[in-house]
Amino acid sequence: MKQQPRSSPRSARNQRTVSIIGTGSYTPEKILTNEDLSRMVDTSDEWITTRTGIKERRVAAKDETTSDMAAKAALKAIEQAKISPEEIDLLLVATATPDMIFPATACFVQKKIGAKNAACLDVSAACAGFLFAIEIAQQFITSGTYDTALVIGADKLTSITNWTDRNTCVLFGDGAGAAVLGHRGSAHGVISTNMGSDGEYTDILFMPGGGSKTPITAQNAHLNLQTIHMSGKEVYKQAVTAMLAAARRAIDEAGLTVDDIACVIPHQANLRIIEAIGERLGIPREKVFVNVDRYGNTSAAAVAIALDEANRSGRIKSGDYVLMVVFGGGLTWASTIVEW
Ligand code: UT7
Repeated sequence: MKQQPRSSPRSARNQRTVSIIGTGSYTPEKILTNEDLSRMVDTSDEWITTRTGIKERRVAAKDETTSDMAAKAALKAIEQAKISPEEIDLLLVATATPDMIFPATACFVQKKIGAKNAACLDVSAACAGFLFAIEIAQQFITSGTYDTALVIGADKLTSITNWTDRNTCVLFGDGAGAAVLGHRGSAHGVISTNMGSDGEYTDILFMPGGGSKTPITAQNAHLNLQTIHMSGKEVYKQAVTAMLAAARRAIDEAGLTVDDIACVIPHQANLRIIEAIGERLGIPREKVFVNVDRYGNTSAAAVAIALDEANRSGRIKSGDYVLMVVFGGGLTWASTIVEW
């Protein structure tokens, strides 16, 4: 039986309830299968499936930008929320692959969807960015500064993938997911949030080139500095530890037990990581949402797409406690519990 939260931080502080009132997602048409990759680098469907659980991923068209994908996901979320784009006060795009270093990808999305009254900015927290952005938006709405926020996780990781490196190129894909946050009428909403970072590990998952430290020049263009560099094993270890701790903290702070959670939506990077977290938390497999097999790791978009799929497929229902937990470069991690 579902228990009431023992001491929800939300109710304890008598704050406005912040609900997710619409979700949307978009993934590009083009599918790249493991078989396709085995013709590009020395790999196999068997290796990729057993080590990661990924079967295929989506690849954006050459001229399809992160903001294009973000805008498509956003319009679906806006439609479901039954609001007009002009009602959006705050527009956040979590991404590691912005259209340009500046202006913010959020500004390009603003123009594409007509959210002309929104303050727009990007959130840089790599794969953890969507929940960082949800939590930032939640604070603004809780405080009464804003009423409605559009939060998007969008990444075109294939634009920064080294297609000759089998250690990384089999892992990533493109896509976008969005959520509209508001406080209208519903008693349900975000009841627990956590964010954390550890700058000691900036060198295990990063893109070294293209920033002010190492601009890309004619002299270094051949070094693949503008692609993802990752120490897979180290990231794996850190991901399991950080996501487990973040999930437990969110459950604790919400005043819930593991049994109260109806659905866990973890970052979709590797099925083995997802299963390890489910097992160690003691959550049955059927309560853990998985789509990494179809999309690979889409970074900031991963949990956003999964949330939309869980919502639209009826996998999560009104009153369910939904735990989202993410991990990414930085290192960064976050967890959020929503009473749906
Ligand atoms: O979004 C958050 C960031 N990302 C992650 O969370 C990813 C975390 N890490 C992982 O998911 C896993 O570490 C990987 C899937 C990246 C790698 O799996 P692993 O079990 O840790 O493999 P490994 O890196 O230890 O490599 C094992 C072997 C190596 O060969 P040797 O040295 O044992 O002969 C690799 O060279 O597998 C080889 N290998 C491959 N073989 C076939 C690496 N990539 C491939 C490949 N195909 N694509």
